[in-house]
Amino acid sequence: MSSAERPDEILGRARRMSVGGRLSFRRHLDEDVDDRDLPFVDGGDDPPPLAQLVPAGARRLELEVGSGKGAFLVAATAASPQTFFVGIEAAPSYARHAAARLRDAGRDNAVLLVDNASLFLRDRVAPASLDRVHVYFPDPWPKRRHRGRRFFGEDSPAVIHRVLRPGGLLLVATDNPGYAGQIARVLGSSPLLARDEDIERELPALGPGHAFSPTNFETKYLAEGRTIRRWAFRALPAERGR
Ligand SMILES: C[S@@+](CC[C@H](N)C(=O)[O-])C[C@H]1O[C@@H](n2cnc3c(N)ncnc32)[C@H](O)[C@@H]1O
Repeated sequence: MSSAERPDEILGRARRMSVGGRLSFRRHLDEDVDDRDLPFVDGGDDPPPLAQLVPAGARRLELEVGSGKGAFLVAATAASPQTFFVGIEAAPSYARHAAARLRDAGRDNAVLLVDNASLFLRDRVAPASLDRVHVYFPDPWPKRRHRGRRFFGEDSPAVIHRVLRPGGLLLVATDNPGYAGQIARVLGSSPLLARDEDIERELPALGPGHAFSPTNFETKYLAEGRTIRRWAFRALPAERGR
């Protein structure tokens, strides 16, 4: 067990990981990660604000919620080298794995932070900071008693709208029919966001890493023949949205 996963450090971040019910930690990736020079920050129970994670002068900022093993970030950092990406991942071993993939690919325009993205967006991100928020295959928590752990809930439009720059994009994908229904209802009915079906077609056509693809779960679910739902929502200007 590495220093980032000692029980005392897990307890140190437990408070942030237990809002709405304790998030799971996937602690057992098979491969060892060489920790040197990783673009990786363990947020513990007092994670740094977004502004401290981003290099001075970075103009375009995108954030991925639940980066998993980092396939999207590896592609996105190559597709958009002038953009800085922040991946917020609750599972320390996944965040370290994703950071190692970025380092090994020679990328210097991304960082992984271990934290609960639901809280991070609320208490560590200044208004109108982000150009895009990506949420691909968020955990569906299918048991009714675990629904409070889902990333998307009734207040998500306000949470996302606050951190996006006007016109900024929220990009979402899921394979789970029940969660898809909730996402479509909550985000689709908000006066703060507008679905943009042109963008849903145009960004993926630019190639991997612009939106939705590739992710590890996408690859797995496509191979299983599952139906995947994808949406792009645009943050409406404040005077229209509020
Ligand atoms: C189903 S996996 C999808 C991973 C990746 N997006 C993909 O498509 O391959 C969900 C990921 O989100 C992480 N996660 C779940 N809830 C989270 C939260 N509130 N904040 C940050 N990460 C979270 C999990 O640890 C897991 O790595």
